[in-house]
Amino acid sequence: MSLRSLAILSHKGGVGKSSIAVNIAVHLAKIGKRVCLLDNDFHGPSIMTFFQRDPEVNWLNEYLLGKETMDDCLQNVSPTLGLSGKLWVGYADPTPESIQNLIRIDQKTSIKMLQNLIKLKKGFKEKPYEIEYLIVDCSPGTGYSTVNVMLATDSSLFIVKLSNADLFGTSQMIAGLYKQLKNRSLVLANLIPKEAIQSDTRKQDIQKLIEKRFTVDIGDKIVEFLGWIPTDFELQNIEFQEAVKHLQGQESSRIIYTLEQPEHVFSTTLIDLIPTLFGEVG
Ligand SMILES: Nc1ncnc2c1ncn2[C@@H]1O[C@H](COP(=O)(O)OP(=O)(O)O)[C@@H](O)[C@H]1O
Ligand SMILES: [Mg+2]
Repeated sequence: MSLRSLAILSHKGGVGKSSIAVNIAVHLAKIGKRVCLLDNDFHGPSIMTFFQRDPEVNWLNEYLLGKETMDDCLQNVSPTLGLSGKLWVGYADPTPESIQNLIRIDQKTSIKMLQNLIKLKKGFKEKPYEIEYLIVDCSPGTGYSTVNVMLATDSSLFIVKLSNADLFGTSQMIAGLYKQLKNRSLVLANLIPKEAIQSDTRKQDIQKLIEKRFTVDIGDKIVEFLGWIPTDFELQNIEFQEAVKHLQGQESSRIIYTLEQPEHVFSTTLIDLIPTLFGEVG
């Protein structure tokens, strides 16, 4: 059984990386696959806000720094979510001490973390894991922890918001990383005004322009543009309501669309992309 792996990346924060990572991972486990989702965004951890984190489970940071075993840092969330497959989640430590610690680490430690990440991937092939899909949510930008993930995964999915700042930064980022790593690079546009992409011809025209822009900047045609996800105001409204519940001391969590609303455009767009993301034929 082969392990397919995907890094979720971006130039800027707040473009939808974590939402996309969680929704893809949950969908795969929902249809019976064996999946692992890692929060490698050590600067802005957020994967735990989608799940009920078991406080007994240690942080992914601890495993990568060689302080804990992989078994102690992964939580199987499939029973609570009622998923027919398996979903293991590794969480990043959100405490300021831990975030600062990982920002300041030296090159030797960063290489050690890469070695442990590769070891983790090997461990995923063994029982009880036997993982088929590994999805890693990364920090924005090109810090060492993100580059480590790119070195350890098969494909790189860049999420863009299509502002000038984001387009410029993303093509710089892909160009620079491609020169060093030669990773398969995929681009998905999120948070796009719905009205702007109502017509298919308009979408295709803009897609061509984006691919041309990247090709000019990178000097090679390496970027595959995958598609569009519109801004969903209902999602933003639900998030606001959940935040109010949280403020009132009530139980609240982030919505996972592929689980709760599989027919929603956010879910269907991601589900349709899965074979391409993991380089599967047919
Ligand atoms: N297509 C979308 N429509 C509406 N809101 C979205 C969409 N994609 C993401 N969001 C919201 O945008 C915010 C940032 O998303 P998040 O996944 O946390 O981004 P990142 O991980 O890149 O920082 C969240 O509040 C999320 O719910
Ligand atoms: Mg995030």
